[in-house]
Amino acid sequence: MNSLKRDFPILQNREIVYLDSGATTQKPKQVIKKIEEFYEKNNANPHRGAYTLSMEATEVYENARKRIAQFINAKSDEEIIFTKNATEALNLIAYSYGMENLKVDDEIVISIMEHHSNLVPWQKVSKVTGSKLNYMYSNQDFEISDEEIENKITDQTKIVAITHVSNVLGTINPIEKMIKQAHKKGAIVIVDASQSIPHMKIDVQDLDADFLIFSGHKMLAPLGIGVLYGKHELLNQMSPFLMGGDMIEYVYEQNTTFAPLPNKFEAGTQNVEGVIGLAAAIDYIEEIGYSKIQEIEKQVISYAREELEKLEFLKLYLTPNEMNHSGVISFNIKEVHPHDVASILDSQGVCVRSRKSLCTTFDAIFGD
Ligand SMILES: Cc1ncc(COP(=O)(O)O)c(C=O)c1O
Repeated sequence: MNSLKRDFPILQNREIVYLDSGATTQKPKQVIKKIEEFYEKNNANPHRGAYTLSMEATEVYENARKRIAQFINAKSDEEIIFTKNATEALNLIAYSYGMENLKVDDEIVISIMEHHSNLVPWQKVSKVTGSKLNYMYSNQDFEISDEEIENKITDQTKIVAITHVSNVLGTINPIEKMIKQAHKKGAIVIVDASQSIPHMKIDVQDLDADFLIFSGHKMLAPLGIGVLYGKHELLNQMSPFLMGGDMIEYVYEQNTTFAPLPNKFEAGTQNVEGVIGLAAAIDYIEEIGYSKIQEIEKQVISYAREELEKLEFLKLYLTPNEMNHSGVISFNIKEVHPHDVASILDSQGVCVRSRKSLCTTFDAIFGD
């Protein structure tokens, strides 16, 4: 594990224990180097110029798209749309699919453990279209039961938007079951893989996910790059989200026809260095291999669970079943403000996320 640590320059430059990868990961030198290389050798605006350098930049950019399609086993690289982050990808689906396909009394189902980026856009869609926003609640083991899935995903459901791994609890949700139930009822499913893709292999065809989104920066890639995967037939029928350069086919004074996929959804100059960095991060992850990553994580998480459980003053929010739990460990120390806990840990060089119990998940479970 120490040899992997040496790949991260920031961990050589700072005396820290970085435990906030759920917020954003540090970047290995292999990713940083690829970005430097792009600026030193290939930089130009892709899809813009007919000169060699611009065509090379286009090739680098489009090869990265192919790499990402292959990584999640998309049928075609046209199903991969680059966005700014997971939040923008979810908003794109909410506006371009949700607003156009939902009507009064249709239902959107999300879970109570969603990140706000997979909650607030659906509130907006529900208000504008007159559809209902329903929640799948977690039980006291911080899991969503089969019964809850069957009760909430019904004939009225048109969209299910679900996080694969909760950023608050680390719970791994049974998305396979949810997708099966949703498809049985004729609904489409959006999987938020932001917290799962750094830790486990994702195969969109195997899952039969209709849409799947994630942010690069949580999986060793640069900040400011996100991915939206969508089934070709769904993306094809959707209207563009943002309008501008490079997403058009012909522009007339009063009307415009749009470019085919994926350009239809990529208006304006893109974050090319982010895309290249993401492809490099994927190379890095695959070189280590998910089985090795999981082996290391299992050791670290089991050790942390075991040691933290010994501390009586600490309340842990963990699913009892280790198989349903990824790398996030949430805890609270009664009577001590979380920011104080984080500040004390910071004084020892330990970086953790702190929050004053505001998230919807805890409010719903504990009535806090
Ligand atoms: C599960 C989940 N979804 C979505 C997001 C939003 O990601 P971003 O801020 O990169 O858009 C996060 C960020 O923490 C997350 O944990």
